[in-house]
Amino acid sequence: MGAMKAVVLCGGEGTRLRPFTHTQAKHLLPVAGRPVVEHALEAVREAGITDVVVVVSPGVERQFRERLGDGARLGLRLAYALQPEPKGLAHAVLCAEELLGDEPFLVYLGDNLLERGVAGVVDLFRRERPEAVVSLQRVPDPRRFGVAVVEGRRLVRLVEKPREPPSDLAIVGAYAFTPLLFRAAREIRPSFRGELELTDCLQWLLDRGHTVLPHLVEGWWQDVGRPGDLLVANRLLLARLSPRVEGEVDGSSRVEGSVVVEAGARVVGSRLVGPVWIGAGGTVERAVIGPHVAVGPGAEVRGAHVEDAILMDGARVEGGTLRVSVVGRRAEIRQGSTAYPISAFLGDDSVLGPKEDR
Ligand code: G1P
Repeated sequence: MGAMKAVVLCGGEGTRLRPFTHTQAKHLLPVAGRPVVEHALEAVREAGITDVVVVVSPGVERQFRERLGDGARLGLRLAYALQPEPKGLAHAVLCAEELLGDEPFLVYLGDNLLERGVAGVVDLFRRERPEAVVSLQRVPDPRRFGVAVVEGRRLVRLVEKPREPPSDLAIVGAYAFTPLLFRAAREIRPSFRGELELTDCLQWLLDRGHTVLPHLVEGWWQDVGRPGDLLVANRLLLARLSPRVEGEVDGSSRVEGSVVVEAGARVVGSRLVGPVWIGAGGTVERAVIGPHVAVGPGAEVRGAHVEDAILMDGARVEGGTLRVSVVGRRAEIRQGSTAYPISAFLGDDSVLGPKEDR
């Protein structure tokens, strides 16, 4: 078997992540200081795969190329494939067919974050050489996922978004396939939501007697679909950072817990309560930051208390208390010192503040 490749799917419109996805591709939104997809790509590399096809929609291709380039910075060789229309995950993989060639490959949904990465799926596939491996995890409400029925070690049946789930085993967005998948994807029909589903491809393989192995995923699994998910993922990933202070923290500031201050960031007269990440060129003055806060590159916080939040590149927060918030690029929140704590999901370049300011 030659070197396995990976295809990381970053299509879809991210409508549930508006307003942020009006101006940025969903998979490029930052979590714990890096775009969601970079966390996924890092997991691919950790599984020992270096050739990766990233499938994107044409409208955001440039954003991806600008941010990820040829992948060298991440230790990967990236190629891009375009999915002209969001016609489903199996359709997205078909769009990468030429670049994938005739070796087996990992399929990883670029918005699925996994505590233990994707090495488990890849290792099982390499060891047992089935036709496919599908990752599964038990969830309290499986209706918004693909659902699998397993007997012993054997996969029996798969259904996409069942109204009455036949089990509590949800399909996690990490799979391994042989090129037989392309045939399955060409032969299945669109689902109730008008998409070519990977779930139906797996069922197609099962129906023809091919071996599809289930892989039980341990550790947390978080997909980023709604704004609140960004904060959950931010908390989970910040908790894993190793503390490191390379920027400037003045003598009157206090650093508690796990805190990263990148080179070129400046912290003055403030308290950082980890887990916290301050990006390059970020400024924090007379503020209390944390826990669970990522302050993006070039963002500024002055005289404010910020907790459980993502401030994207160049965002500004002045005064007041901000909790459970995502603040877009260059967006501004200015509150008087007596303001109530607020929670905001504010898109790029938006402004929130007292009337007299404008
Ligand atoms: C997709 C798959 C589904 C899987 C889920 C995991 O759903 O179709 O089987 O459980 O990803 O995130 P979608 O996100 O397209 O609704």
